[in-house]
Amino acid sequence: MCGIVGYVGKEKAQDFLISGLKRLEYRGYDSAGIVTLGEDGKDTLVRAKGKIVNLEDKLKHNKTADRVGIGHTRWATHGEPSEKNAHPHRAGDLFLVHNGIIENYKELKKELSDHKFESETDSEVLAALINSFYEDGKYPLVNAVVQALKLVKGTYGIAVVSKKNPNEVVVARSGSPLVIGVGHDETLIASDASALLGHTKQAIYLNDGEVATVTANSVDIKTLNAEPVSAKVEKIETNLAAIQKGGYEHFLLKEIMEQPDSLTETLRGRVNLEEGIVHLGGPGIPEAELRKIKHLVIVGCGTAYHAGLLASYYIEKFTPGITIETVIASEYRYRQAYVPEDSVALIVSQSGETADTLACLREIKKRGVRTVGIVNAIGSTIAREVDGGTYVHVGPEISVASTKAFTSQVIAMVMFGLTIAQAKGVKHSILKPYVTEIARLPEEIGKTLKESEKAVKDIVKKYADYEHGIYLGRDTAYPTAMEGALKLKEIAYVDANAYAFGELKHGPLALIDDRFFEFALLNKGELYDKAVSNVQEVLARGGHIIAVTNVEKFDLAVESVIKISSDIELFMPLLMNLVSQLFAYYMTIAKGYDVDQPRNLAKSVTVE
Ligand code: G6P
Repeated sequence: MCGIVGYVGKEKAQDFLISGLKRLEYRGYDSAGIVTLGEDGKDTLVRAKGKIVNLEDKLKHNKTADRVGIGHTRWATHGEPSEKNAHPHRAGDLFLVHNGIIENYKELKKELSDHKFESETDSEVLAALINSFYEDGKYPLVNAVVQALKLVKGTYGIAVVSKKNPNEVVVARSGSPLVIGVGHDETLIASDASALLGHTKQAIYLNDGEVATVTANSVDIKTLNAEPVSAKVEKIETNLAAIQKGGYEHFLLKEIMEQPDSLTETLRGRVNLEEGIVHLGGPGIPEAELRKIKHLVIVGCGTAYHAGLLASYYIEKFTPGITIETVIASEYRYRQAYVPEDSVALIVSQSGETADTLACLREIKKRGVRTVGIVNAIGSTIAREVDGGTYVHVGPEISVASTKAFTSQVIAMVMFGLTIAQAKGVKHSILKPYVTEIARLPEEIGKTLKESEKAVKDIVKKYADYEHGIYLGRDTAYPTAMEGALKLKEIAYVDANAYAFGELKHGPLALIDDRFFEFALLNKGELYDKAVSNVQEVLARGGHIIAVTNVEKFDLAVESVIKISSDIELFMPLLMNLVSQLFAYYMTIAKGYDVDQPRNLAKSVTVE
């Protein structure tokens, strides 16, 4: 979703602003813009609809050597994607870029009749509001920003510059991330630390309710109530290689293929194969309290929600006396759900910034429930606000569609479940097979990816023109089917839905015709025969079935088969999901769509 960059220092600001915005492209956007300010009081504002290359084209005629500026990639919320709605927004002598949503912008706008609004955005209202205080002569700029923010309801990460003082940038945050990069005689600003790499590894993460005045050599942070905050400089752990394509054509394929390594990172130091136990330090829950846990609430959005759902199927298999509710964050935050005593909430998020998930976390904490994060982005808001947590450590995930994070989120949650089961004294013989398979998974994932890529490429030719698909599975293969369908929807724009096999007769069977294909996950196990009966029902109605299976002697007369030869049993659905990921990828290539930045979507959804 929207991205912010800013620069003040000794170099040409435009260079960093453009390279920084390019790093944030993966988050999803539909227009972009930058402004730089010269010592002579001149501003250079350039904005363009569409991709950053359009902005670069325009910049060819607007090059400056200005040493301060701000930039933005916009993901439309209020007003269509267009040049006039793109940020930065101007009000008087100042310019503003904004991530988030100003909820009371209509009321505020009524009071700002002096300003001639040029856009339909809520963000321009904030620019005008700041300017209304600034024009009163209440210099410095930060004072005007603070006065305006005190009137604002909603979420924001902002950066503001003024022609009156082209040596500083004022930034503030509430609910939308902002990082300040500390360099040599230069200070950089970004909504995501990855934009800073190559310039500095020293970062200050702003907290909600803080505002900072940034110059080339100083960072002065205060709360909105004018209390001084001492800046904590942290090291950015990611490196440049991790955010580059590494020889792959798309980030998505790179991220699918690196799962053997990313899962290895998730497991590092956490699995004791000899004893058949797992050890997670992060949640920090004493053993006596682990023993008392009776209920888990798992909260997430999109892929993170599916990961939670799949993990719940596993955890309830080996942890007696525990109930698990996996919920969609955007719903749960407004439900009046009863959370029983001795509950723990798992907050699942790759980015650690998803607005609805964060809101749930805060709501749940208010009720006194212990929260545990299952997060990837280190230092993200969710990671900082949970009571304890387990980082999945898959490295940056750049492609909008989440792949490697899913696999590791599932396993991290299963390991948390195992930690509870170990504390509750569940028999070793029940838990050990899970631990053994978890340890084997990275290698088996590697083999399965190798084995299935060609098979997937071959069958995609047959299905590239389809616009409808149904994903089917039972038990642990059902949430896996949901995730497979989501991948195909997100990037190949195929109207794909998922059903539990048992639900077929209750509606979806009516859909079966030549416009649909059925992606059937058929893993060995006690429910295999029942799933086969369901497949027969589809076949009898002329279905176009793609079966993904680990059954050696698979003899159903389906249209296409992709075999998985691994002897993994419990986590077979995770291997099947690799096939779904590859299928979505190659379908998207065949259809000619943008793999890494699908239309209308954002990597990190920081607005409600
Ligand atoms: C967006 C992304 C999805 C992701 C979801 C939750 O919709 O496009 O890939 O699953 O947000 O994101 P999170 O960062 O909280 O896991």
